[in-house]
Amino acid sequence: MKLAVVGYGKMGREVEAVARERAHEPVVVRRGSAFPASVPVGIDFTRADAVLANTRAAMKAKARYVIGTTGWDAQRDELARVVAAAEGGVVHAANFSLGVNLFYKVVREAAALFARFPDYDPYVLERHHRQKKDAPSGTARALARILEEAGGPRPHAATALEGPLADDRFHVAALRAGGIVGEHTVGFDSGGDEILLEHRARTRRGFALGAVLAAEWVADRTGLYGFEDVVDDLARRRPAT
Ligand SMILES: NC(=O)c1ccc[n+]([C@@H]2O[C@H](COP(=O)([O-])OP(=O)(O)OC[C@H]3O[C@@H](n4cnc5c(N)ncnc54)[C@H](OP(=O)(O)O)[C@@H]3O)[C@@H](O)[C@H]2O)c1
Repeated sequence: MKLAVVGYGKMGREVEAVARERAHEPVVVRRGSAFPASVPVGIDFTRADAVLANTRAAMKAKARYVIGTTGWDAQRDELARVVAAAEGGVVHAANFSLGVNLFYKVVREAAALFARFPDYDPYVLERHHRQKKDAPSGTARALARILEEAGGPRPHAATALEGPLADDRFHVAALRAGGIVGEHTVGFDSGGDEILLEHRARTRRGFALGAVLAAEWVADRTGLYGFEDVVDDLARRRPAT
């Protein structure tokens, strides 16, 4: 199918390549260009302040939309209204890597266990390349939400720590250097020992593949979905080997 690649930066180029590999016809949409007519689905890897307008344009063109861009959480309610009013279909995720979505499940299990042992302080540490615009990453925020949902003696995230850590908070920290594609660590530290869970993205291809899979999935669906909905549905349809 025709697939609009909205934003032609590091991720847009990967999405174009994966779309071709999967026999789609990518149509690149650069900044300032209109969403193309008669293209059933678009994939957005642009910048946070462009997401709402880009989604409106895709809905107006009657296209389904996949949003990989991060850092627009404050506009989530408005975006949901736009999608509902258009009776459109959108999948959004801070991380389209299949591995990260499996990692979320592992972290959820671990968080529920450690919440019962108050000696262990949870934390999230993420590392990315120096050009990344948002901090902490959308994935780190998603991991923090999982830890918050588990409860425990430190039930709230501290994402911008200056001075000491409050007793009811756990630390979510960001590091920026060089060309790191994306690394997320969830730790549980008791002072005497530490348990580490870690995901490392080595290339951007995994994110692009997940976004293209989401585009194929949402092409004939209505509603607002996360990538977890896509992964769960695909997993249900695949027999365990
Ligand atoms: N969900 C995931 O799995 C995942 C994975 C990796 C990255 N990301 C996120 O994806 C976003 C893009 O990352 P990136 O590494 O590809 O960034 P990038 O290399 O800076 O590319 C962004 C591109 O979008 C273009 N752009 C900006 N506004 C636009 C608009 N309104 N319409 C069309 N194009 C527009 C930019 O053009 P100009 O240079 O002309 O501004 C640039 O070419 C970031 O928010 C990043 O955090 C998400």
